[in-house]
Amino acid sequence: FRIAVFASGSGSNFQAIADAVNAGRLAGDSVTDSPMHPRLDVRIELLVCDRPKAQVVERARQLGVPAFVFRPKDYADRETYEKEILERLQALEIDLVVMAGYMRLITNVLVEPLYGRLINIHPSLLPSFPGLDAIKQALDYGVKVTGVTVHYVDGGMDTGPIIAQRSVEITPQDTEESLAARIHEIEHVLLPQVIERIARGQVQLQGNITITS
Ligand code: GRF
Repeated sequence: FRIAVFASGSGSNFQAIADAVNAGRLAGDSVTDSPMHPRLDVRIELLVCDRPKAQVVERARQLGVPAFVFRPKDYADRETYEKEILERLQALEIDLVVMAGYMRLITNVLVEPLYGRLINIHPSLLPSFPGLDAIKQALDYGVKVTGVTVHYVDGGMDTGPIIAQRSVEITPQDTEESLAARIHEIEHVLLPQVIERIARGQVQLQGNITITS
């Protein structure tokens, strides 16, 4: 099961996926090969990154994951570089694209051909607090519970069918940093879990609703 990860920043979620693969948690080594738990073979085939200086690029280099790193300003428009990305994904026969801190909206060049095979992780309980600075948005609003969402990507900003969510309580002492740390911890567990379920064929998309078995 071949995945590509899109990321723009530190890449701690990219690292969490790679660690899960390398620990055998996504490679199926930890479970016996049975009809209930067939052996999985998840591989990260490509990192796509729009910021050459991002830490995630160095992480990919250390892990030996091939990377397509580009600067949007080197292209005439978004559609042009997205076409190049799509060609690379198709050449590698990617089964699932995981957006983990990719800080750009994508167009129909990618959304249409990949719909249902393209997921995103977002640090709030969607549909609350989409867009940038979701953790700060939740703190500023004063909600007492926020969380993490993994969802299929459609053309909108953090919209699309929700696959999984985890809640995180906000305490009066929380700062953006302390809350972000707890949210990231949960992301690093949830994202590999969702990838495993998708790779096992356990997530069905029915219109706007997903059903995980
Ligand atoms: C995560 O909080 C993710 O939910 C959001 O961007 C952040 C990426 O963090 N979409 P990292 O680059 O994986 O450390």
